[in-house]
Amino acid sequence: MPKTIIISNRLPIKVQRTEDGLAYETSEGGLATGLGSIYKQDDNIWIGWPGTFFSDEAEQQQVAKDLAEQSMRPVFLTESEIRDFYEGFSNETLWPTFHYFSQYSVYDDTFWEAYQQVNRKFCKAVMEHAEPGDTIWVHDYQLLLLPALLRSEMLESTIGFFQHIPFPSYEIFRLLPWREQILQGMLGADLIGFHTYDDARHFLSSVSRIVGFNTSQGLIDNGHRSIMVDAFPMGIDEEKYATLAASEETKAKKQEYQEALQDQQIILSIDRLDYSKGIPQRLQAYELFLKENPEFHGKVTLFMLVVPSRDQVERYRQLKETIDELVGRINSSYRTITWNPIQYFYRSFPIEELSALYSMAHVALVTPMRDGMNLVCKEYIASKLDQKGVLVLSEMAGASRELADAVLINPNDMGQLVQALRQALTMPEEEQTTRMKNMQDTVRRYNIHHWVEIFMNRLDYIKLKQMSMA
Ligand code: UDP
Ligand code: G6P
Repeated sequence: MPKTIIISNRLPIKVQRTEDGLAYETSEGGLATGLGSIYKQDDNIWIGWPGTFFSDEAEQQQVAKDLAEQSMRPVFLTESEIRDFYEGFSNETLWPTFHYFSQYSVYDDTFWEAYQQVNRKFCKAVMEHAEPGDTIWVHDYQLLLLPALLRSEMLESTIGFFQHIPFPSYEIFRLLPWREQILQGMLGADLIGFHTYDDARHFLSSVSRIVGFNTSQGLIDNGHRSIMVDAFPMGIDEEKYATLAASEETKAKKQEYQEALQDQQIILSIDRLDYSKGIPQRLQAYELFLKENPEFHGKVTLFMLVVPSRDQVERYRQLKETIDELVGRINSSYRTITWNPIQYFYRSFPIEELSALYSMAHVALVTPMRDGMNLVCKEYIASKLDQKGVLVLSEMAGASRELADAVLINPNDMGQLVQALRQALTMPEEEQTTRMKNMQDTVRRYNIHHWVEIFMNRLDYIKLKQMSMA
């Protein structure tokens, strides 16, 4: 039976070496958490990197055997590939450029060489598992060359590509020295998906200006095939988060937190450590809020979870220091014997604890400078069984296009952020419910199952169209 092969750099499970042997944990990040609950149907498999360097062959075999039980096939990266492909080209070149931080981008030929080499390595891994009739679904910016590499091996195959991060405007994208090769790599797919129409539009404009192909109404003509480009805003497993919020485990955790925090209003902030998330700007806004609104002292707590991410990359290390300093400064300026303005955690939390925090928080403060989608805000909405709570959301997150009932802000406008925080903390319950209900309808309807279905249907459609044009 034909299967779907999902390919992403990071597998939804990360493997770590501990004193007691190998440990398997859920990966963080929207791609892994979003698709993690749905890929295991039929004979489908997921190919990707397990997140740790393994040199020992016996250890590699053990990892491969354990992951195979969960339908995963590992691609092992060497130390230099991790440095130059993953930390280097993926996260010091593409990530900053695609998030409009091109001043942080490093243009290094060694990184580019490694990027090409690892994309070829992934191609080889796919070829070991692909059979005629399979659907191949490549994910995200670490594997932009893979669709074309696969196409050259299997001319007739069905290949979808989805990008989980923004696609920048032509003026930013064209700064990349390897811009044309990158676009040619992506154009190996039959269907190319983005979270928003703006991302899709930016991509189409880069294709027509850099590669010179005709693009019209979301279709690209490369002279041989018609390639479709469209927006598919990614959803979450809404049912999973709603069910979890109602579970005894979540309720017990929630009670434990509530007892510790007493009658404080909770402002929740959850992100991977990343400059695209606007964490220092959020802290500065909170500091200004405390300065301008002394009546809230002792009555609000910012519960801030920062999940460690890419900690070998210098920018990320610097960011960690900046955040540590800001939290220290705010807490030491405003704390009292009985009150801490910020509860700061630098680690990853189990999903039951995330669920308890989502369901008890009065306000979720999701203020990225730039974000492809942002699933945290959707998880917050799905967890609000009592329909109370306010989402303050950046206009620069893809999710803002769907969640018009959030309090929308520009993360660069400190005054607006402070005002939004006050508005959220004082919003009448009736208004909270009206807004939350509308957002829940959206999150429920456009859930992850719907997203996969729409993407796959569109992929079938373009294949049929290609055949009818041949
Ligand atoms: N997350 C997690 N553990 C944590 C905190 C967050 O697994 O301790 C998850 C969170 O539930 C969400 C994902 O990480 O599903 C973050 O996805 P998002 O799209 O918001 O941002 P990304 O990290 O992909 O940029
Ligand atoms: C974002 C990206 C994913 C990535 C995740 C975690 O969600 O879109 O591709 O896997 O961040 O980042 P990491 O570098 O740890 O894989």
